[in-house]
Amino acid sequence: MTLPLSHPALSATDPELAALVGAEEQLQADTLRLIPSENYVSQAVLEASGTVLQNKYSEGYAGRRYYEGQQNIDQVERLATDRAKALFGADHANVQPYSGSPANLAVYLAFAEPGDTVMGMALPMGGHLTHGWGVSATGKWFRGVQYGVRHDTGLIDFDEVRDLALKERPKLIFCGGTAVPRTIDFAAFGEIAREAGAVLVADVAHIAGLIAGGAHPSPVPHADVVSTTTHKTLRGPRGAMLMSREEHARAIDKAVFPGLQGGPHNQTTAAIAVALHEAAQPSFRDYAHAVVANARALAEALLARGFELVSGGTDNHLILMDLTPKDVPGKVAAKALDRAGIVVNYNTVPYDPRKPFDPSGVRIGTPSLTSRGLTAAHMPTVAEWIDRGVTAARTGDEGALAAIRAEVADLMGAFPAPGLTTD
Ligand SMILES: Cc1ncc(COP(=O)(O)O)c(C=O)c1O
Repeated sequence: MTLPLSHPALSATDPELAALVGAEEQLQADTLRLIPSENYVSQAVLEASGTVLQNKYSEGYAGRRYYEGQQNIDQVERLATDRAKALFGADHANVQPYSGSPANLAVYLAFAEPGDTVMGMALPMGGHLTHGWGVSATGKWFRGVQYGVRHDTGLIDFDEVRDLALKERPKLIFCGGTAVPRTIDFAAFGEIAREAGAVLVADVAHIAGLIAGGAHPSPVPHADVVSTTTHKTLRGPRGAMLMSREEHARAIDKAVFPGLQGGPHNQTTAAIAVALHEAAQPSFRDYAHAVVANARALAEALLARGFELVSGGTDNHLILMDLTPKDVPGKVAAKALDRAGIVVNYNTVPYDPRKPFDPSGVRIGTPSLTSRGLTAAHMPTVAEWIDRGVTAARTGDEGALAAIRAEVADLMGAFPAPGLTTD
């Protein structure tokens, strides 16, 4: 499928850059994108993020700005915050964080002092860098204590989390992560946080769309603060939101601005508002449930082919494969699959004996392929491609990878990508 898109002004001004954008559009159209933190945004979200709202400075919040000329911007931001509150049932929403990492940093600024103890899931166990991991500012400027998953089950051991929380008395407890294939028990974390006197932060960056669509339980009744990116399963622009109970609203707002950031990215705020509007439609519920159904079907098909999956499968959009039994390092497999038109990322698995830059696993997910309309019926084919690709990675069979690439492009050609069609 050759895309009919054009960007006339961009092509005239900067053909070199326009060619790169065109090549990326073609790549996103032709490949099977399995990175669980990625998606395809709608044409409406793309348009909103490319508007003249880009031209404005708006430090402050709606009705309380340090700049004049905010008549329209205030309404845009109020639409976004109102829609976020309605969709997630939150008391308060701040849509200004530039992305997920600064959103999390704002939470530290709101509730902790440098040197305080904070607690989160360890990065190699599925947590995020910003949950107190050592190489991150959050692990350098705060004292990060980390929980993991059990070796035998791949699941969180809540007795261990509770013991650690009561021993360390952290100011913040983060739950959620970046490679967590199972339902997060927010109620259990809420109880532990209350017992330990900690602020519970549910980082739902990966699963926000599933929560909005009713395909994962909501953290809102249990967490003091909910942090999320807007660009993963929520299918919005690259950005983030912080939601909280009313009692924390002021602390969160002050931490985002003026604590951490200057002017909000108004074009992103607009696109977040559009994404939240889309996520409130009944069709988005169908989407969220289809993402999970596809992930389950893909996990089953992979298990049937002898793949080892961390925790034995998935409850959400994400699957973490340990390729040790296949005798292929994660990075070698990921690079081979890329040559086969299947885009994944290599990832550590819990208790990985290999190094983070050359780990044992591969992380995959179904948000993007579901946005293109693939169903559970396609998942055995996807599993077969992955199986053939991993085998070809081991044997160095470039011909096999090229054959898969042609099959992938053929199927994806029948499923136009949102935002990449001209309708
Ligand atoms: C759980 C979680 N939190 C935070 C982030 C950070 O988001 P960003 O990459 O937008 O800074 C990510 C990104 O992968 C994530 O998975």
